[in-house]
This record gives sequence, structure tokens and C-alpha cells, in this order.
Amino acid sequence: MSTVAINHQAPETAAPPLLTDTAIDGMAAYEALVNEARSDRTGFWARLAREHLSWHRPFTKVLDESNAPFFKWFDDGLLNASYNCLDRHLHDGNANKTAIIFEADDGSVTTITYRQLHARVCRLANALRARGIVCGDRVMIYLPMSIEGVVAMQACARIGALHSVVFGGFSAKSLHERMVDVGAVAVITADEQMRGGKNLPLKSVVDEALKMAGTDGIHTVIVYRRTGGSILWDEPRDCWLHELEAAQPDTCEPEWVGAEHPLFVLYTSGSTGTPKGVQHSTAGYLLWAAVTMKWTFDLRTDDVYWCTADIGWITGHSYICYGPTAVGATQVIFEGVPTWPDAGRFWEMIARHKVSIFYTAPTAIRSLIKAAETNSGVHPRRFDLDSLRLLGTVGEPINPSAWEWFAREVGGGRCPVLDTFWQTETGGHMITPLPGATPLVAGSCTLPLPGIEAAIVDETGCELPNGQGGLLVVKEPWPSMLRAIWGNPQRFRSGYYPADLGGKLYLAGDGAIRDAQTGYFTITGRIDDVLNVSGHRMGTMEIESALAAHPLVAEAAVVGRPDETIGEAIVAFVVLKGPRPQGTEARQLADQLRAWVGKEIGPIAKPKEIRFGDSMPKTRSGKVVRRLLRSVAKGETLAQDMSTVENPAVLRQFGHHE
Ligand code: WT7
Repeated sequence: MSTVAINHQAPETAAPPLLTDTAIDGMAAYEALVNEARSDRTGFWARLAREHLSWHRPFTKVLDESNAPFFKWFDDGLLNASYNCLDRHLHDGNANKTAIIFEADDGSVTTITYRQLHARVCRLANALRARGIVCGDRVMIYLPMSIEGVVAMQACARIGALHSVVFGGFSAKSLHERMVDVGAVAVITADEQMRGGKNLPLKSVVDEALKMAGTDGIHTVIVYRRTGGSILWDEPRDCWLHELEAAQPDTCEPEWVGAEHPLFVLYTSGSTGTPKGVQHSTAGYLLWAAVTMKWTFDLRTDDVYWCTADIGWITGHSYICYGPTAVGATQVIFEGVPTWPDAGRFWEMIARHKVSIFYTAPTAIRSLIKAAETNSGVHPRRFDLDSLRLLGTVGEPINPSAWEWFAREVGGGRCPVLDTFWQTETGGHMITPLPGATPLVAGSCTLPLPGIEAAIVDETGCELPNGQGGLLVVKEPWPSMLRAIWGNPQRFRSGYYPADLGGKLYLAGDGAIRDAQTGYFTITGRIDDVLNVSGHRMGTMEIESALAAHPLVAEAAVVGRPDETIGEAIVAFVVLKGPRPQGTEARQLADQLRAWVGKEIGPIAKPKEIRFGDSMPKTRSGKVVRRLLRSVAKGETLAQDMSTVENPAVLRQFGHHE
């Protein structure tokens, strides 16, 4: 641990200066690109697609809007995502460049070059083919953060199989639900994962999921030996990754797929009970992952880039697996957690690997601020962070004080902080500052990227003037947008292009407001029943269904309560079939229900608080009055009109004090 003086001269509120000589150098350059996209939309995207992707057969059509909102981009072009991410670097001088610096939970480090990564991907791709997996098949990936995670995703892409990655913190039931919905034929997993010094099961969770109904189509389970922990084995279904790789040659002809061939399906929470499979295309998706690596992160040859997300989320897809490799970056991949062995782990790793671009979540920053305040040994000032030149955040709004701390204490007052707004559905960044152009304002994601026509409208789809809050929409299609909800085209149309708004606007699902003077965007939060817990999207309905499935529960309602560290905390209101429990009994039951939700969905969905009542507060027509429950959860006095509530007295049981 080295102590280094950082320049703390900058006043607390000053925004860090912008970088110079960047991909987009100055506001004039930004505006020129915005105008290029506006004056010749298809020409703009075609130019980017030619400059940033390698095509096996060039496209002649750019955008097909004939079946809007089911847009098609670069439709007659042929390419392969893994070729673009790996093979390109065998010829562009990057073959021996480090692709991944992997730091394990226990601190051990493994590196792999682009040439080696290419070989591993080819071996696994060959093995997948040898197991009968073909273009268009779906493969589940349930792996820890690892080089193998990237290898598995890229190997699927190489043969045109669609991957569906499930975060290792999800339960057997959640994994099962997703594998059945997507109709998977194979699973790639590990024996166990290591996080915070503990071994946690993965293979046995897969075994449990495969015992449930509807999984007969899964003929192959490939297991990466991570810990050597004991697991059950089912021949010939189960096979070791290292044995498969050893038996295959290290080259593999990629499957040349159409631009619109789906690259993957990634499940995310919506406002209904079941998670939805967001389907992305090959070319449009990869294009934006590559372009935003250059524009937003201004990636340069000698950068060491680190995104702390998990491959189980879209950030891990776009900004670990695909974006960095498409542009030939050297990146750090970290297996563990930010607080183990202590809360200095991130800073220590930045110093050890000389990270220059660091991309993380506001929730992590806030918890590390807390830790640094109580233990000066884990304060970022204690570490040599001089290698940093750019900081980014994603996943939830970042409050100005956390933004400023990040800029000052981590960025040393010299690194721009980029608050990147985007979503699983958008594939890549949408509204974000550019490090060489956009003047920064703490708490704002600033301006849309060139080509992204973001706007704010009212409930009828009419655009609102700056200074007036409303619904965030995107007016024009863009290449990396989702193509479908897997198996449910209607849900795609009605959810993202709702008729209420005229059917032509992409509805993000967030509220937003533009600054009256600058036009900068600030995201005000979800407008649907989706919570943002530690930067993870959780549907309230999903948690409610899980609770309602417990044999003792009659009814449940779930709301979010603003939380200083994790953004939103999950609060559940529960009515049991039997009498309302009190005291110790209530506490024990709450623990039991929390564990149940952990088992049904995963630990991230466990309610922070569970409150019991005799009945659910409802309107006379039988609708649960969520707005009142939200106020009760916050501990607010209820100013709202209660005349429509059938049973207002029950609010007191739920913890409301007049
Ligand atoms: C939702 C999307 C994008 C990758 C990680 C999350 C919220 C995301 C920001 C930001 C304010 C943000 C929105 C959005 N969100 N980034 N910079 N500022 N809110 O992807 O799980 O699809 O969640 O996260 O509410 O709709 P996701």
C-alpha cells in the first residue's frame, strides 16, 4: 500500500476539466456529428458501420422501417461478432497485446493475449459444434466473473448460437424460468464461484434447475473447474470445459450470420411478474458497443480499462465481453467483491494494474465513501491512483455529492466523471457526457450521443419544453436497440412503442427533465413498477409473486423506499392466511419470508423490511393503494386523500403513525 499526494486544490464543487485531443474533441465536433446524423440519418449510421465493423459481405441496405417498430439494420450484410472482437486483432498488430488481466477473488492474477483468447474461443466453439450445437440454438451461461465467461460468450457468438447469461446470484428457480423461456439446449457453468473468500455453488444450482419440468431439451452441461469443490456428475450430459478444449484445434471458421441474426437474449425485470428476454442483434448491437468505447471512453492503445460490472448484466455484455474486445482494449476483469478483504480493494487494484479508465456503479461508490469515512486505511487517498484519466458510472442516478467525491478523491480532480445513462434494451450508452467535449455537471447525464434523438414528452406523446419533467423517449430508431422480447413480439410493441404515445416513440420507462438553460438531461427515476436496488433492476411484481407463492402468505405488496446507499430498498407489506404475527413471531416470519424470496429469485431480491397487516389497503374497487404504501414505507405523514381507501385503519398496522 503506497501513500501518494493527490492534488486537492480544486474547490469542492468544481467539475473536473475535460480531456483534450479526444475522439470527439470539443463541443463543435460533437455538434457536427449530431448534425451529420440529423441531416443524413442512414448515411451517418452506414458510415459508422463501415468504419467500425469488419463485414464478411458488405451491407447494401441501411435501415428497413417497413415493419416498424420491428426495425432492421444493415440487413443483407454478413459478419461474425467473435471475428470482429478477436480475429481482427490477429492482423492489426494487437495479437500479442493483453486482452484480459484477470484478478481472482484471492488476488492471484492471470493474463491472456488476444491470440490466446482467440485460440480458447475457437477451441470451445469447435467443442460446442461437436456437441451438436448449431447456429440459432440457445446456450445458458451461468458463470462467475472470469476469462472463461468471456470465452463462453464469444464461443457462442462464433458459431451463431445465442447466449443467455444469468447472473450467478440468481436462484435455481430463476435460472430454470429463463432456460425454459429461451428454450436452451446447453448450459455452461462452473463447479463453484469464489466471492469474498467464500466458495458458493453453481453446478449444483444448475442440477437443481435441470430437475424441474421443461428442461429435457438440455443435452449438455459444460463445467469450468474453478475451485475443485465436489459436485455431482451426470454422464454424458456433463463435460469438463478443459477436456473439451484440449480435444479441439485452436482455429474455427466462424459462422457468417446476417446482421440481424440475434446475438443474445438477456433477461431483465419489467413491470409484470415474469422477467423478459431482451433480444439483441449482431451488427447493430456490436457497432454501438464499439463506437461508444471510442466516443464515451475515448479508448486509446495503451489504456487499461476496468468495468466492475458482472457479465450477468448488460453492462458486462457491452462493456466487458464485446465493446472492449471489439476495439482491442486491455481490460481488467475482477472475480470478487469491492469490500473484500477490505473496502480498499478497488483502489488497490487500480494502483496494481495501472487502470486508466474506471467504470463502476454509484451504489459501489456510496458504500466505499461510507467505508472510507470510518476507516482511513481504505480511503482512496492512501493509494496511488495517478494512472486514472477517466471515470464512469452507470446503473442508477448518481447524487451530486457522490459524484463530487468520486471526481475529487478518486479522480484527483483531474478525471472527467461520465454519468452514462442507458438500459438493457438500448444495448449501449444513450445519454452521456463526452470526455473531450461536454462541460460536466454533477448529477446530470448531460446530452444524448450523436444519432440518439432523446426527448421528453407528456402522456400523450407531445414534446415538453426544457425545464418541464416528463417521460423519456427516443424519437428515431438506432442500431443497438433491442429487436424483440423473446417469444413475445406483442410485449415488445406495447411495452416500448405504446399506442398512447402514438406508437412511434421508444419509451424508456424513466422520467426525466431537461435543464432550462443547457438542455442537459437529468433522470428522475422509473415511471413503472420497477425498482433500482444497488443498480439492479427488480420488478415489484416479481417479488410480490414470489412472496405470494409462500404457503403462509395470502397477499403481498412491494414498494421501494429511497435509500442513501443502495438507491432503493425493498419494503414488503404482507397479509398472512392466518392471524397477523407480532413481536418475535413477526421477526421470525419475516426472516423466513426473506430467505424464501432469496430461494425463489436470488439474494438481491430479498426485502430489506417486511411488515404485516390484517388486510391490504385497497380502493373500493379492490386496487392496492401503492402510493399510500410508498408513503408509509418512507415514514411520511399521509397528506393524501384517503376517502377512496376501503380500510385506512390497516395502514396503522403496517407501521404508519399519525
Ligand atoms: C435502468 C436500466 C444500463 C446498464 C445498467 C442498468 C437506470 C441506468 C442510469 C444513469 C440514472 C440510470 C434507469 C434505467 N439507469 N443508468 N446513469 N442515471 N438512471 O441496466 O438493468 O437495464 O436498468 O437503470 O432507470 O431505465 P438496466
